[in-house]
Order: sequence, then structure tokens, then C-alpha cells
Amino acid sequence: MKAIQISQFGDNDSLLYTEVAEPELNPGEVLVKNRAAGVNPIDWKTCSGGGASPFIGELPFIPGWEFAGTIEKVAEDVSDFSVGDEVFGFIRFPERAGCYASYVAAPADQISLRPQDLSIEAAAGLGLAGLTAWQALFDKGNLQASQQVVVLAGAGGVGHIAIQLAKWMGAKVITTASPSNHDYLTALGADIVIDYHSQNITDHVNNVDLVIDGMGGDIGIDALRCVKPGGRLVTLPSVTKDAVIEAGKTMKVKVEPIRVEPNSEQLDRLAGLYVDRKLVLNIADTFPLDQVAKAFDASKTGRVKGKLILTID
Ligand SMILES: NC(=O)c1ccc[n+]([C@@H]2O[C@H](COP(=O)([O-])OP(=O)(O)OC[C@H]3O[C@@H](n4cnc5c(N)ncnc54)[C@H](OP(=O)(O)O)[C@@H]3O)[C@@H](O)[C@H]2O)c1
Repeated sequence: MKAIQISQFGDNDSLLYTEVAEPELNPGEVLVKNRAAGVNPIDWKTCSGGGASPFIGELPFIPGWEFAGTIEKVAEDVSDFSVGDEVFGFIRFPERAGCYASYVAAPADQISLRPQDLSIEAAAGLGLAGLTAWQALFDKGNLQASQQVVVLAGAGGVGHIAIQLAKWMGAKVITTASPSNHDYLTALGADIVIDYHSQNITDHVNNVDLVIDGMGGDIGIDALRCVKPGGRLVTLPSVTKDAVIEAGKTMKVKVEPIRVEPNSEQLDRLAGLYVDRKLVLNIADTFPLDQVAKAFDASKTGRVKGKLILTID
């Protein structure tokens, strides 16, 4: 099968479009003919030797944790899925999942049936960002209706979904973005959008119940000042989480780090919201699998509006 593989950690030169053996089907798994894979910052961070690299074992490594495709084989002990089912999922994270490939062996308990109204590309991009937003807002953040939440980096993959889920929950949503994205985020439901280039959110916003910190580092630490006593900040970038947690102790704000987990029930809920038109997934761009370097370059700019998707023949 075709796959993107790295044999050493490094920049885009390490990404090889090559022929590899199809994955074996183990108990509890389905073999999927893959049609699309989502691209996330964790993918290129891991390929450079950061991100989830401590969890993936020996190289070579096929990146990618989310996919959408058609089941071609089902292990004997799997009864929930059949050959021919259209499925999608976010799987095995942070261990290797190999979704940048024509075939993916996926744990049946981490995947969902793809509704007809959810396109292959949208399904491939919904898992990682959607589950991060869901788990940050509801599992870690305990967001309730009529609370106020700040979403830092609202135009990104996680941010644009978090805005919509928070509005669906009935919260007031304040977010940060470049001016060119303000109308877009207002249309997605943001009540207040702040231009982070010219304004500091802490000058305008305080006493919120929850911050979803998609930036980390000094930006996350600064945003602690927006949180009311007893409120929370959920910080996404793992590399700066310890610094944000420490600062939170000084400010008496509870800082929750997060590592998104596969969860097929939550994935079903997200797909249901999409089908009910309560959630949109903005696809910023799609690239064929062999053009993954272009997708990584786009992601590394830190300016992606929504999600990047790889299409697979
Ligand atoms: N811990 C976990 O389990 C987990 C899970 C998912 C993601 N993450 C991490 O969370 C972060 C966000 O992920 P993502 O997929 O949403 O990233 P992304 O899609 O690459 O985010 C891009 C967005 O960031 C915005 N942005 C850049 N600089 C900003 C700033 N100073 N203030 C506000 N917005 C800014 C840009 O908005 P404008 O174009 O409007 O400027 C752009 O739309 C990444 O570091 C990722 O690795 C962690």
C-alpha cells in the first residue's frame, strides 16, 4: 500500500511517500481502505522528534491519528461493524496509528459509522480537533449553560469547534483571532471576538468561568487573569503545560492539562451535531497524500482556518 513514512525525525525532507506492507488485522480491529486523513500540529511536531514521539516506539513510523474510509475486513471477534461500512475515527493516540496510508487497522471500539451527510473529508478531520474541544470544554472544563468561556485561537482546528460546542451548550463565548477571521467566528456563534494583534484580551475580559487555552506559554499564562476565582483554564499545548500549571497556582486558578483520548461515543455525538447542522467543520485546504509536505508547511504557519485534510486514492 501507499503511505507516508519517516525513518528519522526531522523536517519535511524526512517525509517519504512510499510502498509498505498493509497492516495486519488483530483481534478487536477492522481493516479500513482509507480515503482521507486529518492533519494536525501534533503530526509535524511528532515527525520532528517532539509531540507524541516518546510514545511511538522504533522508527520507521507512519504518522496520522484520524481517518475516514470503508471497512474491507473485520476481525472474528468484532460484531459492531461489517465489511462495506463507511467509518471514521481518531485512534490509538498517543501511540502510533498509521493513518497517512491507504489501509488502516483500527480498533473497533474507537471508530464510528460515518453518516451519509458527513463527507469523507469532514469525517477525517472531525476526530482529533472535535474530541479535544469536547473533552476540554465538558470533561476537563465542566462548562455549564449560561457560563462564560474564552477560547484562545478561535479560528484553528480545535478553536472553531470549541466555539460552536460552547454555544450549543448555551455559554457566552469570547475568542481571539486575526481581524480577517472575525466575521467568520461571529457567524460560528462567538459573542465577542478580540484581535490579539492589537489588543490584550485581559484588558477587556475578566471573571470568566473557563478558558480553553489553545496557545499555551506566555499567552496561556496571561489569560489566567481572565478567569474568575474558582474558575478553570484548560491548556492544550503539552510542551508549556507545566509553566501554565505553576502560574495557575500563584493566581489561584485551577489549570487542567489535557491529552485528547479516543472516544467513539463522543465522536458519535459530534457527528450527530454535524448532521443536525449545529456544527460545521471548516476545511481550510485538502492535499493528496503525496503532497503532505505542503500540508505540514501550511500547518506550521499557525494560521490555518479550521482543518487540513489529506486525500488518499
Ligand atoms: N493536548 C492535546 O490533547 C491537544 C489536542 C489538540 C491540539 N493541541 C494543541 O493545541 C494547539 C492548537 O491546536 P489546533 O489544531 O487548533 O491548531 P491550529 O489549527 O494550527 O491553530 C491555528 C490558529 O491559531 C490561531 N492563532 C495563531 N496565533 C494566535 C494568537 N497569538 N492568538 C490567538 N490565535 C492565534 C490562528 O488564528 P488567526 O489566523 O485568526 O490568527 C489560526 O487559525 C496546538 O498547539 C496543538 O498541538 C493539543
